Amino acid sequence: MSTAEKTFSKGLEGVIAAQTEMSFINGTEGILEYVGIAIGDLASKSSFEETVFLLWNKRLPSRSELESFTQSLRANYGLCDEMITQIKSLPTDAEPMHVIRTMISMLSLYDTNPNENSVEAAREKALNILAVTPMIVAAFDRHRRGLEVVAPDASLGFAANFLYMLNGEKPTDAMIRAFDICMITHADHGLNNSTFAARVVISTLSDVYSAITAAVGSLRGPLHGGANEGVMKMLNLIPSVDDAEDHVMNMIKNKERIMGFGHRVYKSKDPRASELMTLAKQLADDTGNMDLYLKSNAIENIMEREYASKGIYPNVDFYSATTYHCIGLKLDLFTPMFVLARIAGWSGHVIEQLGDNRLFRPTTDYVGPHAAPYVSIDDR
Ligand code: SDX
Repeated sequence: MSTAEKTFSKGLEGVIAAQTEMSFINGTEGILEYVGIAIGDLASKSSFEETVFLLWNKRLPSRSELESFTQSLRANYGLCDEMITQIKSLPTDAEPMHVIRTMISMLSLYDTNPNENSVEAAREKALNILAVTPMIVAAFDRHRRGLEVVAPDASLGFAANFLYMLNGEKPTDAMIRAFDICMITHADHGLNNSTFAARVVISTLSDVYSAITAAVGSLRGPLHGGANEGVMKMLNLIPSVDDAEDHVMNMIKNKERIMGFGHRVYKSKDPRASELMTLAKQLADDTGNMDLYLKSNAIENIMEREYASKGIYPNVDFYSATTYHCIGLKLDLFTPMFVLARIAGWSGHVIEQLGDNRLFRPTTDYVGPHAAPYVSIDDR
C-alpha cells in the first residue's frame, strides 16, 4: 500500500476493520439490529438464549432447535470441583472483574484440547464459557460474603439460574424478565473495544480462552463496560433529584466525563438506553427506588440541554446502573453483568474471525528521529 493510501485515524475512529453478520448499528438514527432484527423487538419478544442462537447461527431457531440449544447450555452450567476450590481460595477483597478475567483464563487449564480452533470446537468452548461464567461470578460473590456456593439448577433458564446461584433463592418472574432483557440488550454491539480485542487475539490463531480473557480485560475500563459502575457512583453522590442540576453543572465546569453518556458511534440516543430506561422506571417503581430513576431522568434532561448539540446522549450504561441496582446487584457486580451477556457477542465474533481470518497488523506513522548516532555511555 503506498504512503498516500495510509491514513491515520486516532483510536481507529471510522475505520472498518471487519465484516460481521451480527450487529448493525446506525449511530445517526440510533438503530441497533441483531441479524436484522431491531433490538426493541428482541428485548420485548425474545429471550437471551434465543438471542445467542440468533447471533451464532444468523437466524432465529425453530422451537425444537431452541429447546436443544437451551438444554445444551444448561448441561454446561456447572464448574468443575477444582475451579470451585480455586474460587474459594481467592482473596475476598478481590475485584470481581479481575476474578472473572483470571477464572476464564483458568478454564483453559481444565480443557483437554484448549487450542483446538475449528469452528465446531470454538462454538463448544464458547458455549461452555457462556454457561459457566455466571457460576464464576455467583460463587465468588458468595465466597466473599462467607456463604456456601450454590450449585446451578439446570431446570432454570440463564437469567433465573444466575440470580438463584447468587441469592440462594428462586428469583421472581419480574426479576428474571428484567435480567433477561439486560442480557439481550448487552449481547453484541459491532466492533466495540472488547470485541476488537477478541478478534485481534484470535486473528493470530491463538485460542478462544485467550481471546475472551483479553476482551474481559478491555471491558472493565471505565470508558467501556466499567461505565455502568461509574454511573451508579455518580447517582450515589447526588443527595436528591433537586441536587442533580448543581452536581452535573459542576462536573461539566470541571470538564469531567459524565459516565453513561457519549458514544463513538451513536450521535443520538442509544436505542438500548431507551429500552433500559423503560425497564429501570418499572423496576424502580416496584422496588422503592424511584429516587434513582428520577435523578437519572433529571441528569438526562440536563445533558440534553448542555450536550445534545455535541451529539452526546445516554448510552447503554446509563440506565443499566439503576436496573442492576433494583435487581439487587452490588455495584461491583454491574460490569460483570456486561461480561455475562457480551460473551455471546465476543464468541460470535471469534467464530466469524476464524471463518474468514487475516492477521490484524495495522501500521504506525513514525514521527521519531532518523539516522541518530549511538553515543557511548561515557559521552552522554
Ligand atoms: C460502551 O463501542 C461500543 O459499542 C461500546 C458499547 C458496547 O456495547 O460495547 O456501546 C458500550 O462502552 C458505552 C460507552 C460507555 N462509556 C461511558 O459512558 C464513558 C463516558 N463516555 C465517554 O468517555 C465517551 O463518550 C466515549 C469514550 C464513550 C466515546 O468517546 P470518543 O468517541 O472517543 O469521543 P471523545 O472522547 O473524543 O469525546 C469527544 C468530545 C470531547 O470533547 P472535546 O475534547 O472535543 O471538547 O465529547 C466529549 C469529550 O470531552 N465527551 C464527553 C463525554 N463523552 C464525550 N464530555 C463529557 N461527558 C462525556 N460522557
